[in-house]
Amino acid sequence: MTRRSEWLSAELEDYVVTHSSQADELLGKLAVETAGSFPDAAVMQIGPEQGTFMTMLTRLVGARRALEIGTFTGYSSICIARGLADGGLLTCCDVSDEWTSVARRYWQLAGVADRIDLRLRPAAETLSELPADERFDLAFIDADKGGYIGYWDAVLPRIRPGGVVLVDNTLFSGEVVEAALSKTVAAVQAFNDHAAADPRVDLVLLPFGDGLTIARKR
Ligand SMILES: C[S@@+](CC[C@H](N)C(=O)[O-])C[C@H]1O[C@@H](n2cnc3c(N)ncnc32)[C@H](O)[C@@H]1O
Repeated sequence: MTRRSEWLSAELEDYVVTHSSQADELLGKLAVETAGSFPDAAVMQIGPEQGTFMTMLTRLVGARRALEIGTFTGYSSICIARGLADGGLLTCCDVSDEWTSVARRYWQLAGVADRIDLRLRPAAETLSELPADERFDLAFIDADKGGYIGYWDAVLPRIRPGGVVLVDNTLFSGEVVEAALSKTVAAVQAFNDHAAADPRVDLVLLPFGDGLTIARKR
C-alpha cells in the first residue's frame, strides 16, 4: 500500500487501517489495478481509511447531491457515491479520458454508474456552466492544487447551509511548513490561509491521509 500519512510510522498507519472498517474487495482491486497500470500516478488515489471516512461522512450529512473535482481512476467517487441517499447524484469533474475510463468501468462493477455524471473538461469550465440554482450537500476538491482557491470560491456558494466541503492534500506530506516551497506547495499553503480565514465556514484541517480539510458551511 502506498503510504500517505507520512507523519505516522508505517506501523501506526497500518494499525489505523486495520482498525477501521475495511474497504471491500472491489476497491482493493481498483487500488491494485491503478498501481499496476499507472505506477507513477497511483499515489494520487486516496487511501482506504479515507475512503471509509468519506462514505461515512456522506451518509452523516445525508447527501443527495455531491460534487467531486478530480476523479482519477474512481476510488473516491465510488466511496462518495456509495454514501449518497437514494436517488442521489455525484457530478465528477476530470480532464483525463484515460484515467476516468478505468473509473467508468469500476462504477459499473460497483453498481453506482447511474449515480454518477462525469464531466470531462477543466473543472473551472464545468463549475461556471452549472445551472445558477444548482446546490450541493457535499463537495470533494482533489485536482490541480493551483486551482484550489478558484474551486473553493466557485463551490462554496453552491453548498447548502450545513453542507460540507472536503479538500485533499492540504498538508502535502508536511511540506506546507517548510521554508522552501515548490509552486504546488505554495498554492496549497495559499489555499489553507484563504480557507482558514473564510467566515462562511467552520473548518478543521485534519492530519489524516495527506491532510484533509473539512469545512462545514454556516
Ligand atoms: C489527485 S487525482 C484525484 C484522485 C481521486 N480523487 C482518487 O481518490 O482516486 C487528481 C485528478 O485531477 C484531474 N485534474 C487535473 N487538472 C484538472 C482540471 N483542471 N480539471 C479537472 N480535473 C483535473 C487529474 O486528471 C486527476 O485525475
